[in-house]
Amino acid sequence: MTSKRITGGLGLLLGVGLAAGQAMALEGDAERGQAAAGTCVACHQADGSGMNVPGGESWPRLAGLDADYIAKQLHDFKEGRRQSASMLPFANMLDDQQIADVAAYYSEMPVTAAQGGDVDDELLARGEQLALRGDWDQYIVSCKSCHGPRNEGAGSTFPGISSQHAGYIEKQLRAWQADERSNDPQNLMGAVAKRMSDEDITAVAAWLAGQSVASEE
Ligand code: HEC
Ligand code: HEC
Repeated sequence: MTSKRITGGLGLLLGVGLAAGQAMALEGDAERGQAAAGTCVACHQADGSGMNVPGGESWPRLAGLDADYIAKQLHDFKEGRRQSASMLPFANMLDDQQIADVAAYYSEMPVTAAQGGDVDDELLARGEQLALRGDWDQYIVSCKSCHGPRNEGAGSTFPGISSQHAGYIEKQLRAWQADERSNDPQNLMGAVAKRMSDEDITAVAAWLAGQSVASEE
């Protein structure tokens, strides 16, 4: 079974624009991907759900993320544009075809529920505000204006962040604040994260983790 992929003009243009023409156009095969993902389950779990690890390093949900987004991140780890000591050895194990294959494999899995984000109602309300309406006083654009109406993801550029683990979302926002993650060529997230307070980050991560975009709904 081969996955549905955009191979037409727009998909190609977006891919090339984002990743300066790396092997994004490779067709992924989910069945081969399952074999190549044998080492990934230790952290990302067999159902792609990942895990929230309070106070530790959370493993992101991969299930249901866009295939080209997953492939881009794996190339970014491999080529040093995105830093993670945990991920580097595993990204390095994959060649371009295996990257396309594992990306197809995880993208076809149903989105799983997220964990974490046990905060009070006031903070949750702040999180909802940031996610759905933004905060014009702080020049924070709503998350949904890029990540899709339910923050479920939009195309291969904007990943789904609803139903992603709170610990992982927080860590990424802090990494953008500190210029430790800047693998998006336009660094759109750097601009967003730098306008957020510590509390804002906790709030929006907790709220997003509680938003179900489960595929079976
Ligand atoms: C030792 C645990 C571990 C293993 C094994 C592992 N990962 Fe990861 N992975 C992580 C962590 C931790 C992150 C988050 C890194 C960060 O904070 O930037 C991550 C991030 C990712 C991301 C980025 C997700 C996103 O939403 O941006 C992808 C894609 C990914 N891993 C794929 C894989 C694949 C494919 C394998 C197997 C070949 C694998 N990982 C094996 C721990 C692991
Ligand atoms: C102007 C567009 C834009 C806005 C607004 C935006 N994002 Fe993003 N976001 C992006 C892009 C682009 C990426 C992918 C970066 C990459 O390619 O590595 C991203 C990635 C992310 C990721 C990483 C997901 C993963 O799987 O690794 C998180 C977390 C995130 N955004 C959270 C937020 C939150 C929270 C908000 C609202 C406060 C927000 N974003 C608003 C453009 C945006």
